Order: sequence, then C-alpha cells, then structure tokens
Amino acid sequence: MGEPSATEQDSGEAPAHVIATRGLTKRYRGGQLAVDGLDLTVPAGSVFGFLGPNGSGKTTTIRMLMGLIEPTSGTARVLGRPMPRAGRTVLPQVGALIEGPALYGFLSGRDNLLRYDAADPTADPRTRRTRVAAALDRVGLTAAAGKKARAYSLGMKQRLGLAAALLQPRRLLVLDEPTNGLDPQGMREIRALIRELASDGTTVFLSSHLLDEIEQVCTHAAVMAQGRLITQGEVADLAAGARGRLVVTTPDPGEAARLLKEQGVGDVTADGDRVTGEPPERDLAEINAALVTAGVRVRGLTLERASLEDAFVALTGEGFDVAG
Ligand SMILES: Nc1ncnc2c1ncn2[C@@H]1O[C@H](COP(=O)(O)OP(=O)(O)OP(=O)(O)O)[C@@H](O)[C@H]1O
Ligand SMILES: [Mg+2]
Repeated sequence: MGEPSATEQDSGEAPAHVIATRGLTKRYRGGQLAVDGLDLTVPAGSVFGFLGPNGSGKTTTIRMLMGLIEPTSGTARVLGRPMPRAGRTVLPQVGALIEGPALYGFLSGRDNLLRYDAADPTADPRTRRTRVAAALDRVGLTAAAGKKARAYSLGMKQRLGLAAALLQPRRLLVLDEPTNGLDPQGMREIRALIRELASDGTTVFLSSHLLDEIEQVCTHAAVMAQGRLITQGEVADLAAGARGRLVVTTPDPGEAARLLKEQGVGDVTADGDRVTGEPPERDLAEINAALVTAGVRVRGLTLERASLEDAFVALTGEGFDVAG
C-alpha cells in the first residue's frame, strides 16, 4: 500500500491505513533513543495491539502520533494526514486516553466530563448532559459519577479518561494501557467495550504489556523492544510463527527423551512424566510409532499451541523484561 495521495484531503475518502509511520524516531533531550526508525501500519477497522515491555517506547510513539511531541526524524500519518501538522483536522476524529488522564480533582467525574465536552467547539451544548450520561454508563461509572475525581481509585480515573475519549463517535481510538489499574472484572468490561466499539467500525489502537490481553482482544499487533519494531501483523499469524511444543506424557521419561532426540526433536527436556521438545518437520504419528515400537509407554502425545508469549520469546530471544 503506497502513501495516500495529496488530493486525498479533499476527497474525504477513508485511508486504508489509519496509522502509518515511516522511520519514526524520537531521541529525548537527555540522549535517550526512545523510538528508533519505526514503520508502523495500522489497517482500518482493526483492533491493533501495540505490545512491548516497560520502557520500550509505546507511550512515546503515541505522543508523537497525537502531536503532543515532535519526532526527531521520520513521519507519522494519522487518518491519512501528516501529524503533527494536520492535528487540527485529525484530532477531533480521534479519541485518546494517554497515561495518567488530566482530571480536575475538585470536580466530580460527571462535572469533569461536562467541562471536557464544553471545551469541544463542535459539541452541541443542548445534548451535553445526554452525551455525558451515555459515556459514564458505557464505562460503568454512573453510580460513582457524583464523587470528586480526587477520591477516585486508579481504575475509576482510568474509566473516566476512557469516558472522555468516548464522548463523540470517533474514527480512531488511541488507548495507552486502557486496562492499567483495573481489577479483573473491570478488565473484562473494558475488553468487551473495545470489541463493541470495533464492531461499530471504530479502529482501536491500544498499547499493553499484557500479552494475553492482546491475544484476547486484538486482530493485529506490533511488538516493540527497546524502541524498535520487532514484528507486526495479524495476531493469529504472529502466534503461529512460533511453533508449539511437542509434549509426550509417559512413565518412561528417560527412554522417551533419548528416542525423541534420535527422531530429530530439538531442545528435549524431561520433567516428571512430561517430556517436551521442539517438533521436527514430519508427521507426529511416525514419532509416536517409533516410541511405541521401542517399548516406551505413551499415555499422551500432543502439540501445545504456541502463544503470543512464545512468539515474543522466540523473536527477541529473551523474556518480557524491562530494558535498561
Ligand atoms: N520525557 C522523557 N525524557 C527522557 N526520556 C524519556 C521521557 N519519556 C520517556 N523516556 C524514556 O524513553 C524510553 C521509552 O519510554 P516510554 O514511556 O515511551 O515507554 P513505554 O513503552 O510507554 O513504557 P511503559 O510500559 O512503562 O509505559 C524509556 O527508556 C524512558 O525512560
Ligand atoms: Mg507507557
């Protein structure tokens, strides 16, 4: 897919890629290279997970996409328009929740939203209360709407920030760690909400360091490590890229391990009655037959599905840890 044409801004046509960056780079004044040559492509209609450990450059990227900080080099297009230059036309179509939403502590949650809505010149004042009530309801804050925001828990603040992003229908939602601070029930609610928004046609770009969260809610993902893009694509393909492990359950683990190595199984490890390894490129039935012929009692022989976490470890050759 090529760059959107210069005439696109007049046509009002939806770009195929809601976010597209080329060589996007940010070096902070202190010298820290936070984002390094990022080429990110977010298809329209996707729920796109932006995954990476603490300090890998997720928030820095989001700040550049939203025009809050200038890139050191490279370009970013959002909804087909260059950022930060086209911010005035792009940002009203984007709902954003970025690390630690700014709230007035002395105002209630509802009054924070009324004030936020009033700051939007395109928002009709006559329907303001209805809009705010609907947003509060969507994030499950109706009962706590009258409480002062400074008395909100972290999860409640996060919900209020999300409500602010949902006041208007948006083409794109950019959510920086939307489930940060939420309890398991709250996480489930937000995940359901994200799916619902996506089914209405909103593209959702969300960052997370929780691999299983991305697997549960996202259609696409990009993996960051130390400011660099490791991979991006459909979640199903990313997980499939890492092969699962062969698991043999047997009361004869020593003999099974020896035979599996002979059969070309890599990285064989035995733990109790479980012997696991990297499956070779051949029919598992043959491996099973070889074990049985040699007198190994096989109780189970399965291929465990690879998770996104396996894919991440395979790609980076390391655990999901914070970079220095
Ligand atoms: N304002 C800043 N000035 C200098 N360095 C910064 C600044 N903000 C972030 N960094 C550094 O840039 C790198 C990337 O930080 P960033 O906040 O983008 O990571 P992140 O992926 O969002 O992490 P987390 O998962 O913890 O939110 C880190 O090494 C961080 O220390
Ligand atoms: Mg962050």
